[in-house]
Amino acid sequence: MSKFLIEGGTKLKGKVNIGGFKNAAVAIIPAAIMCPGKCIIQNVPRINDVNVFEEILTELGAVVEFLDESTMSIDSSNIKSCYLENGLSKKMRASYYLLGAGLGRFKQSSTLMPGGCDIGERPIDLHKKGFEALGATVDVSEDGRVIVKADKLVGAKIYLDKVSVGATINIMLAAVYAEGKTIIENAAKEPHIVDTANFLNAMGANIKGAGTDTIRINGVEELVGCTYRVIPDQIEAGTYMIAAAATKGDIIIDDIIPKHMEPITAKLKEMGMGIEEYGDSMRVFYEKELIPVNIQTLPYPGFPTDLQQPMAVLLAILNGESLVVEGVSEDRFKYINEINKMGANIEYTKTHAKINGVSHLKGAPVKATDLRAGAAMIIAGLVAEGLTEISDIYHIDRGYENIENKFMNLGAKIRRIKDEQ
Ligand code: UD1
Repeated sequence: MSKFLIEGGTKLKGKVNIGGFKNAAVAIIPAAIMCPGKCIIQNVPRINDVNVFEEILTELGAVVEFLDESTMSIDSSNIKSCYLENGLSKKMRASYYLLGAGLGRFKQSSTLMPGGCDIGERPIDLHKKGFEALGATVDVSEDGRVIVKADKLVGAKIYLDKVSVGATINIMLAAVYAEGKTIIENAAKEPHIVDTANFLNAMGANIKGAGTDTIRINGVEELVGCTYRVIPDQIEAGTYMIAAAATKGDIIIDDIIPKHMEPITAKLKEMGMGIEEYGDSMRVFYEKELIPVNIQTLPYPGFPTDLQQPMAVLLAILNGESLVVEGVSEDRFKYINEINKMGANIEYTKTHAKINGVSHLKGAPVKATDLRAGAAMIIAGLVAEGLTEISDIYHIDRGYENIENKFMNLGAKIRRIKDEQ
């Protein structure tokens, strides 16, 4: 097991290049099995969730290879069914997209219940409701195997009781091959919903309205291979923006879509950070003492729950009080115990965190309790006095590409050490 060792106190300076969006890539890669041909996917982030998908698709019979560092070729011509025998699906949340993709192409699919970050109950009832509305049956066995199947899929009108990224994408996948029209109402609007829809359309699907709360899908009979480029990672970019603010730095964030960053840009500007936007990059720079703000996480275009944890670390070192309300995830404050070990003063319930800013944090041994909490711990380590040792960093490797090198290039003193060293 590796750890990160961080010596705090450096102001970040320089340029960081943002990779492809994890949450889009982990939807687009399984969606590629829907076409009996070859897809070339560009700007794929080199993260562990992608490595696991490479294994899963190979296991299912696809030919998967990297043509260069970030270009993935997926040939699904030889996949005959979508029944995943092993437990790879438990390694991440996004494996649930195999259910919608397999149901669409093969009219049946089966995986074990998905894994992913422990941020509270993460049911898949809305996915199930959508599949059933399209004519499928969904069974979950006692040992956690999900089996979805249908004689045929027929378009339907589906209202999602709760805005769900996963259910919106999964229903969209299954509906691509359904007869007639499917309408998803109260759909999620995140940039990766649009990206996945664009990818499906590039293969020949007929999806309109992605990015609004009503998505219309006209079923098609076939999909063909295509070349597609994944959008930049909004959450990775946001993590570096917040790290720049916390360390009083001055950095350029390159290869981004500034529009996708608006929920974060708006909050950082409100706190007093300098932000200059260019075509596909942004300068984020510290000008004056930052003031605390309140945050409520909400579905896009609200403040993303995936940046709640990094933002709380920034708020923890500002002079004054702030309130963070978690409006999306069910239980995403467990990491606060770790930050408090470093001297932060945060009280929390399941949904609210009351932050009393402290003048400084102190390095300590802490744990990455999940993926984004891990990024938050890195930021805490960067601003803390002394040494911070972060364990369980496999969570971070699931979703952040090359993170220690990217931070090192910005001047951070961070290194990966093996446990036995
Ligand atoms: C996705 C993202 C995750 C992000 C989250 C919210 C991926 C792989 N993961 O997760 O990084 O934090 O969106 O932006 O893209 N819910 C139900 N029933 C369902 C589905 C969801 O009650 O059938 C609830 C969840 O428990 C959660 C909320 O709805 O409280 C949001 O879930 P959803 O948007 O589906 O998030 P995930 O797909 O889990």
